[in-house]
Amino acid sequence: MRRILVTGASGGLGRAIAAHYARPGAELLLWGRDKERLDAVAAACRAAGAQASIRSLDLSAEDAAVAALMAEDAAGAIDIAIFASGLGDIRAEGALVEDPALVIRLGKVNFVAPAAMAAALADAMARRGEGRIVLIGSAAAFHALPFAAAYAGTKAGLARFADALRLAVRPYGVGVTLVSPGFIDTASGRKVPGPKPMILTPEKAAAIVARAAERKQAHVVAPGIFALLRWFDRLLPAFLRDRLLSSLTPPGR
Ligand SMILES: NC(=O)c1ccc[n+]([C@@H]2O[C@H](COP(=O)([O-])OP(=O)(O)OC[C@H]3O[C@@H](n4cnc5c(N)ncnc54)[C@H](OP(=O)(O)O)[C@@H]3O)[C@@H](O)[C@H]2O)c1
Repeated sequence: MRRILVTGASGGLGRAIAAHYARPGAELLLWGRDKERLDAVAAACRAAGAQASIRSLDLSAEDAAVAALMAEDAAGAIDIAIFASGLGDIRAEGALVEDPALVIRLGKVNFVAPAAMAAALADAMARRGEGRIVLIGSAAAFHALPFAAAYAGTKAGLARFADALRLAVRPYGVGVTLVSPGFIDTASGRKVPGPKPMILTPEKAAAIVARAAERKQAHVVAPGIFALLRWFDRLLPAFLRDRLLSSLTPPGR
C-alpha cells in the first residue's frame, strides 16, 4: 500500500492530484479546510478503489500542522507528500500594495507551513532512507510582480527552500520535487483578472505533477513557455526588465 499525502485536496489542483492517484493499492491522506469538499473528494477516491481519509485543518496554525503531519507519519510511513495547498491573491482594487494582513496570511500558507512540514517530513524520511516530497510553487515565483508581491515572494521563497532541501536530503534517499505551474483553471486561478495564456486543466496539471514525482525531477516549470519567460526575465537588462514589470497591471487594478 502506497501512503500518499495531498494538502489542498479540497481545491482544484489538489482534488485532481488525489483523483490521479486514486486506485487500488493507494492510501490517500487528504488535507484541506472545507470538510464537505474533502468528504466528496474522499468518496470519489474510494469509488476508484483507493483508501482515503480526510483531515480538516488551517495551515496558518503551522505548529499544529507540523504536529498533525508527524502523527500521520508515525501512524504509517508516508511515501509521497504533495503540498498543493496555497493561496493566490493580488492587491485589492485601488490599492497600491497588498494589505499587510494578507501578506502575513500568504507568508504562512504559501511558505511557512509547507516549508516547515516538508522539513519535518524530510527528516523522518531521511531516517528511513526513502520518500518523496513535492512542493507546488508557481511560475510567478520568477518575476517581481508589482501587483502580487506577496504571492510572488512566498512562491520564490518556497522555490529556493525546495532546492536547498533537495540537496540536504538527497544523500539520504529522499527526493524533493518542485513544480512551478503557469495558469491552472481552478477557483483561485479564475480569480486572477486578465488573460491566462496556455492555461492548464487541473487534470493536466495533476498529471504533470505526478510525472515529475515519478521521474524524480528536481524542478518542472509548466507549460514550457513559462520556463522561457523565466530565462527572459533573468537575461533582460535590469532597466528594461523593471520597465516591463512596472507596466504589468491586471485589468481593473
Ligand atoms: N490556479 C493557478 O492558476 C495556479 C498557478 C500556479 C500555481 N498554483 C498553485 O497551485 C496550488 C493549488 O492551487 P489551486 O489553483 O488548486 O487553488 P484552489 O482551488 O483555491 O485550492 C487551494 C487549496 O488550498 C487550501 N488552502 C488554502 N488556504 C488554506 C489554509 N489556510 N489551510 C489549509 N488549506 C488551505 C484550500 O483549502 P479549502 O478550499 O478547503 O479552504 C484548497 O484545498 C497552490 O499552491 C497555488 O498557489 C495555482
